[in-house]
Amino acid sequence: MIQDWNNRFSDNIKEYGGYSIGKLFALLSDPEIISLAGGLPSPDMFLKHELRLVSGRVLEENIESVMQYTAIKGEQALLDAIVRFLDRDNIQVTDENIVVTSSGQHGLDLTGRLFLNPGDIVLLDRPTFAGAIVAFQMQRPEFAGIDIQEDGSDIEGFREKIDIFGAEGRKPKFIYVVPDFHNPSGLTMSLEKRNSLIDLSRKYGIPILEDSPYRDFRYRGDTIPSIYSLDQEDGGGNVIGLYTFSKLFCPGLRVGFNIGPTDVIEAMTNIKEGNILNSPKYNQDMCAAFLTEMGMEEHIRKCRKYYGDKLNVFLTTMEEYFPDELGVTWTKPEGGLFLWVTVPEEIDTHKLFYEAIKHKVAFVPGDVFFGENPARNTMRINFSFASKDQLVTAVKRLAECIRSQLSL
Ligand SMILES: Cc1ncc(COP(=O)(O)O)c(C=O)c1O
Repeated sequence: MIQDWNNRFSDNIKEYGGYSIGKLFALLSDPEIISLAGGLPSPDMFLKHELRLVSGRVLEENIESVMQYTAIKGEQALLDAIVRFLDRDNIQVTDENIVVTSSGQHGLDLTGRLFLNPGDIVLLDRPTFAGAIVAFQMQRPEFAGIDIQEDGSDIEGFREKIDIFGAEGRKPKFIYVVPDFHNPSGLTMSLEKRNSLIDLSRKYGIPILEDSPYRDFRYRGDTIPSIYSLDQEDGGGNVIGLYTFSKLFCPGLRVGFNIGPTDVIEAMTNIKEGNILNSPKYNQDMCAAFLTEMGMEEHIRKCRKYYGDKLNVFLTTMEEYFPDELGVTWTKPEGGLFLWVTVPEEIDTHKLFYEAIKHKVAFVPGDVFFGENPARNTMRINFSFASKDQLVTAVKRLAECIRSQLSL
């Protein structure tokens, strides 16, 4: 019997730690724990009736094609609907610029596989989306993180890093950003910075990876054009866009799409052929129907109101239970599903997590959102899943728990 399986794994996998927060989530089975940890959309916002109707019809009319293999690149009806979906956001693409993915995580995986060799540099924010870190980590790159600012990524910081690497004869492979309601911080990149980032990309020839799961979830303030659309106004070709239906529609169907220059999309489609072949036809049919016949714009309006109300409740309760003396600060997002809390440096939120569970509340310790050199006194809070009453209780429990750890 083979005993030393680990030694037989590929070099990429031997060094791969996987998603460390999965192990923490396994501790949250107690129903009394109010979890602010996951990134789950609320089932209250699921279009259950609409999905049942369309699903019944599709199975009735097209069951054979639903049960069959389908095009690698994506179902034509979905590609057509995506073209119109993006057009409403000032992005003009054709089928050649789109590959359907089996969700945002798959889109990140395709991008990592396409661009990264071991040791290649990825420029990103500190903190950044943990799922992107694990997806890219599979290729063993080097992460170069720059602290995010109130108005989004630190573009000057990126420039300085590029120059430092340039002096060593190295160049980052791409810059990964989540400009709208960033996961995990909730912060949004200003228009000025989006333009500066494009200038940077053009000057140094470094592609931008724009990940946009939350773009339609704006609760206050004005929409800022996507980096993809700004680049396109000036000729385009520097940005790859990552989208998922997970937050806007539902995560269970696992459908998303990547957009970009034709060479990039063709190469991603080739990788997809070798990794999942095609995304499930049924799931793509449901997403096409979401875009075309489930009242998407009305749904988005309802989500904005529903999640925006929850965010307000959360922020108001934080003001009440976290007086200045506690030394706790938090971001005030204009949209999305998350905010970012920084506690006094004496607290390690990974340890605090276990204390918090005893207080029946959970969050994600901030260290998992750093490619390197984590800030251990931080945490990500999700406000979309718990009810408003639960959010209030959760803030009270969190305040109690943090107080118990401070030497005030
Ligand atoms: C920034 C970002 N990108 C990608 C994803 C992955 O999305 P999906 O659940 O569709 O795989 C998420 C999910 O939370 C996310 O926040």
